[in-house]
Amino acid sequence: MIPVALPSWEEINIRYERHEDPSTLTDSDRVLLEEAKSIAEKAYAPYSRFKVGAAIRLSGISETFSGNNQENVAYPSGLCAERVALFHAKAHHPDAAVEAIAIYAIPEYFSLERPITPCGACRQALLEYEHTSETPCRVVMGSSVGTVCIFPAVKDLLPLSFFESRLGHE
Ligand code: THU
Repeated sequence: MIPVALPSWEEINIRYERHEDPSTLTDSDRVLLEEAKSIAEKAYAPYSRFKVGAAIRLSGISETFSGNNQENVAYPSGLCAERVALFHAKAHHPDAAVEAIAIYAIPEYFSLERPITPCGACRQALLEYEHTSETPCRVVMGSSVGTVCIFPAVKDLLPLSFFESRLGHE
């Protein structure tokens, strides 16, 4: 028998905070989540009937920036709440680091048992700014049941991600 080398297994552990009740949140996280919830109500989501809101805190800027999902009859033309809020914030303050994003979803026909997490494209967009600013961006995700999950940085939500250095430019 020819000996066959077996592959090794690597493990990735991701830690995040789980709050059963928003009363254990910091004031700034709670306020940001409230803003995400209130902007979610104004989302334009006639196709999915799934309204999402996002609110962003920038470092050194007192104003917060929010956005909600904007859908379109040509489905891919729409955009998630996270990127609407993120691009709005960065359009006004290109040099400010994104300190935190809060996300809240309101489905029309059912209730969520746990918070929604951002889609892959939104994680990638958030990661770009986190990486270039060298500042971790907290991701605070709320739900109508009260449970809140917090990831300390976007990179925790996108392990093994692709960076410019892999292009040989850095
Ligand atoms: N959506 C968001 O806005 N953010 C998410 O994190 C997940 C999904 C939107 C996109 C679409 O308008 C609807 O929710 C259903 O996918």
